[in-house]
Amino acid sequence: MSAKIIDGKKIAAEVLAEVERDVRRLKEERGIQPGLAVVLVGENPASRVYVRNKTQACERAGIFSQQYNLPAGTSEAEVLELIDTLNHQENIHGILIQSPLPEPLDEDSIFNAVDPRKDVDGFHPVNLGKLALGDPTGFVACTPAGVVELLRRAGIETAGKHVVVLGRSRIVGKPMALLMLLKGKFADATVTICHSKSRDLPRITRQADILIAAIGRPRMVQADMVKEGVVVIDVGINREETAGEKSKLAGDVDFEAVAAKASAITPVPGGVGPMTIAMLMSNTLKAARALLKKSAATPARAGL
Ligand code: GUN
Repeated sequence: MSAKIIDGKKIAAEVLAEVERDVRRLKEERGIQPGLAVVLVGENPASRVYVRNKTQACERAGIFSQQYNLPAGTSEAEVLELIDTLNHQENIHGILIQSPLPEPLDEDSIFNAVDPRKDVDGFHPVNLGKLALGDPTGFVACTPAGVVELLRRAGIETAGKHVVVLGRSRIVGKPMALLMLLKGKFADATVTICHSKSRDLPRITRQADILIAAIGRPRMVQADMVKEGVVVIDVGINREETAGEKSKLAGDVDFEAVAAKASAITPVPGGVGPMTIAMLMSNTLKAARALLKKSAATPARAGL
């Protein structure tokens, strides 16, 4: 079988063009420019690249952005103080704290401090709860939201299919599985989540109609772990250091071998990666619009 390559770069460009158009309209018609604060703590080289890409995407989409680079030794109290300021800042509609945070910072208490209405990452328990309940007013984490958008725009149906998610992180695995479980189009799947303690992984992954790999181990998914005709979504972005050469990116899937059996597959790079940023822009626009709806509702309530 020769697999269709799902072009994340092209699909992300479509999403970004729609966001850019809607941001322009929001500015022209309502005088509001969506704003995103991006917080980076420490010197993680991959995080620095991601954060730079996010602020550049804001510029292209017409979204105002503010970047905060805090040194690795920043205390939890200092990070929480910055989040509190941003929670109250009117021109900031979305707040992103780049993960992973350096030790000993506690990601849970820091993510939980972001106002859920500005949590464009979808990491806050309120937003994860809304996702679990199918409440569309919440924010969905950008990478899994991007995977759904890829499937939708590539015309890959999920209803009744067996979707196997490899990985159970707060950023990808858990929200990904919840999205696939929702009722409706490009959801309605039968879902299995696997993780590092799952037994006999290949037996489970071979049952997948759609396999979503987000385990963070380069080329872990091999051809003997999938069935003919599977759709494979590779979320992995692993940097491989080779002596004397520039580091290379590798996904969680052995692309060449698995593509020979798959009906469709995402490449790395150029698959899921660009979608994460596109969905971040889309979530920031949604946060700015939600504020508008709320202020429109206030006078009516006051008049009761
Ligand atoms: N690190 C890797 N992916 C993400 C993401 O989607 N959001 C944040 N905040 N950090 C990340």
